[in-house]
Amino acid sequence: MSDGHAWWQRGVVYQVYPRSFQDSDGDGIGDLRGITARLDHLVDLGVDAVWISPIYPSPMADFGYDVADHTGIDPAFGTLEEFDRLVAEAHGRGLRVILDYVPNHTSDRHPWFAASRSSRTDPLRDWYVWRDPAPDGGPPNNWVAEFGGSAWEWDERTGQYYYHAYLKEQPDLNWRNPAVREAMLNVLRFWLRRGVDGFRVDAIHHLVEDERLRDNPPSPDWRPGMSPARRLVRAHTMDQPEVHEAIAAMRRAVEEFPGDRLLIGEAYLPIDRLMAYYGIDLAGFHLPFNFHLISTPWKAAAVAALIDAYEAALPPGGWPNWVLGNHDRSRVASRIGPAQARVASMLLLTLRGTPTIYQGDEIGMLDVAIPPDLVQDPWERNLPGLGLGRDPVRAPLPWAAGPGAGFTTGAPWLPLPPDHARTNVAAQDADPFSMLALVKALLRLRRAEPALSVGDYVPVGAIGDVLVYERRHGGERFRIVLNMGSAPCEIPSGPLTGHIRLSTGLGRVNEPIGRTISLGPDEGLVIACEG
Ligand code: NOJ
Ligand code: MG
Repeated sequence: MSDGHAWWQRGVVYQVYPRSFQDSDGDGIGDLRGITARLDHLVDLGVDAVWISPIYPSPMADFGYDVADHTGIDPAFGTLEEFDRLVAEAHGRGLRVILDYVPNHTSDRHPWFAASRSSRTDPLRDWYVWRDPAPDGGPPNNWVAEFGGSAWEWDERTGQYYYHAYLKEQPDLNWRNPAVREAMLNVLRFWLRRGVDGFRVDAIHHLVEDERLRDNPPSPDWRPGMSPARRLVRAHTMDQPEVHEAIAAMRRAVEEFPGDRLLIGEAYLPIDRLMAYYGIDLAGFHLPFNFHLISTPWKAAAVAALIDAYEAALPPGGWPNWVLGNHDRSRVASRIGPAQARVASMLLLTLRGTPTIYQGDEIGMLDVAIPPDLVQDPWERNLPGLGLGRDPVRAPLPWAAGPGAGFTTGAPWLPLPPDHARTNVAAQDADPFSMLALVKALLRLRRAEPALSVGDYVPVGAIGDVLVYERRHGGERFRIVLNMGSAPCEIPSGPLTGHIRLSTGLGRVNEPIGRTISLGPDEGLVIACEG
């Protein structure tokens, strides 16, 4: 591409959670035909790539993150032919397709695990992490599972425990075994041959555990009400040095194929540790997901400091990325409120680095309260009442008013948002001031102005509640001014002259900038600078 930037550096990724995007057959579960039918929404929106959460055959203990066959499609989602059609239709529209790759674990129904657990001498025994009990017969050590309970599950038949970072239905693969590695790299090759443009790699920080099985130490930060898994610091179960070799091998497999295929890694880590996931000489992930906007307090000074720290920590040539939400985290509009969600989308789409938009955030969806009898997420079922459940962020996307909200003609697998008659894609499409209108305007502007995609990031700082920065490219210069507070305010414009290109309120276009910049409550501005 021009300027030597790859498509994914200029581009914007959109995450589809397939169960909840569009149902085509009335079973209440979104599917591949549904996604294909809605590709024009993504084109209209103005994104460049669609990342689809897992679609492989699965018992759905963790809704697809428990893969029982890496090279097929779950019947609830469709068929391989329908997948090929989706890819062709997406490519025909200039959209890239990114799949979810789940290397850390499989389903306990995967044939590999069935073989592995069948006997201690099975050739696949060592494909998973099996250990003898502790002398007292209990689990080999104190490791706990993310979704509750010991991370070790006793297997009566063969008299050993197996390790699972998540559910007991998600046994961890043993990446120390070269045969596992090769089999899992072949999974990448299978989909790359089918034309996919890249992968989002699941739970990469969990890929390898301490070989000596040392106990994890207690965490000083744990408080009642937090997940029991956080009682321990995951010193020996997460972010182990061996993970980087495995990532480099994934990258090499991807590079066996032509085109700029993309590898994004899911790793929830502090900034300094996250940077190692770019790999030595950038031979790791193109984009180790940066989730820090999700966890940083929504205050101008804190966000300014985060951006500076992240930019400063990037390895030379490392390309940044930003995320406001996904299928695991409370929605941005619920975290910071609908008015600030508009400011957040201006931030996301004007920062330097590849943005990922989670489905529904483009219409400002809120978390949907799920009555206890309708809870689906195993995390909530295992550890109820701690607010860990992810169903609220996985409610179906409302496309239109009316029964089923255009998502399904049947009974949706999770409740529709209660306000779907008012908040839906069609209604927002018809409203020139909607969140959807804002996101489209931001994406159009980002596409039109290279300064906003590939330009330099120049911090200005926080002035009270207002976050200020610039993007510059060639002679072009934009100043972004975000009121992260709910009171109107005025800040000096300095020597700046220019005019408003876009307001989160979608008014004020072309308004010239005087000696001061006035901002409404929760208002953000993109200012085109002159001179
Ligand atoms: C991270 C995924 O995003 C989440 O949904 C899943 O439960 C875990 N990894 C386990 O695969
Ligand atoms: Mg369906």
